[in-house]
Amino acid sequence: MARRKIIIDTDPGQDDAVAILLALASPEELEVLGVTAVAGNVPLPLTQRNARIVCELAGHADIPVFAGSDRPLSRPLVTAEHVHGTTGLDGPSLPDPQMPLQKVHAVDFIVDTLRNEPAGTVTLVPIGPLTNIARAFQDAADIMPRVQEIVLMGGAYFEVGNITPAAEFNIYVDPEAAGIVFKSDVPLTVMPLDVTHKALITAERVEAFRQMGTRTGRMVAAWTDFFERFDKEKYGSEGAPLHDPCTIAYLLEPELFSGRHINVEIETESELTRGMTVADWWRVTDRPVNATFMGDLDAKGYFDLLSERIARL
Ligand code: RIB
Ligand code: CA
Repeated sequence: MARRKIIIDTDPGQDDAVAILLALASPEELEVLGVTAVAGNVPLPLTQRNARIVCELAGHADIPVFAGSDRPLSRPLVTAEHVHGTTGLDGPSLPDPQMPLQKVHAVDFIVDTLRNEPAGTVTLVPIGPLTNIARAFQDAADIMPRVQEIVLMGGAYFEVGNITPAAEFNIYVDPEAAGIVFKSDVPLTVMPLDVTHKALITAERVEAFRQMGTRTGRMVAAWTDFFERFDKEKYGSEGAPLHDPCTIAYLLEPELFSGRHINVEIETESELTRGMTVADWWRVTDRPVNATFMGDLDAKGYFDLLSERIARL
């Protein structure tokens, strides 16, 4: 099978970090062309720093990391230090990265890559607010039909919101950007809270990472330990949802996931429901299908895959 070329657009974030590690641990299946940072969980100076830290941890200082948008298209930035800590990667203490940040802006990298690579061969994997992707589509509409697929973490329907009663964080931060992406006609696979809230990092799963005996395993255990404390308190669940790696796991083992091909639209008008993903799960409208909206996963298979791959680093 040909390696899938991907660009990971990210706001690390402990769960983003695990997603990046999973991708870099899977070179037989995935070629990471670059990592583009966006403001989200924490401000851009931290997300671009954290993205470089994670690439170095994986032994991949060769992966180009780019800084992108430092705020949403048209709204003030909302961050999530209450979940991820002030650095965005709280848990273990981490040295500053040694690898350089690329000078090219992330949006220009996305546009140039999609223009230079053969059409239909690059997958975009956004796991933070969609500002960089939307700006690339605004700057260069010609690249949209050239995208093989967008596999994103964001949205919620049956699971409702995690930053407001109606909205999931990534979509909430920049609903206008999400609207552009969901209207782009690019093949879209969505990992909403409906599925990520079934991917709970329980204490024994954290321990499995710690017992790997590797620095990466210990880092992932420390990150997920930290990340878990907030969600456990909030949801009372046995462990925190490990959201972002669901996108990479889908690229590696799509059969772990199930969902429906439906219409999903983004609420941008009302302050009460801004960022809501209005998913026509029961097909009660004749709105056009624009997304594969995931609803379930094989959680054991997901964590078995994660453990097997992270142990490689
Ligand atoms: O709502 C979960 C999403 O918001 C994840 O991508 C997490 O990293 C945060 O960005
Ligand atoms: Ca994220």
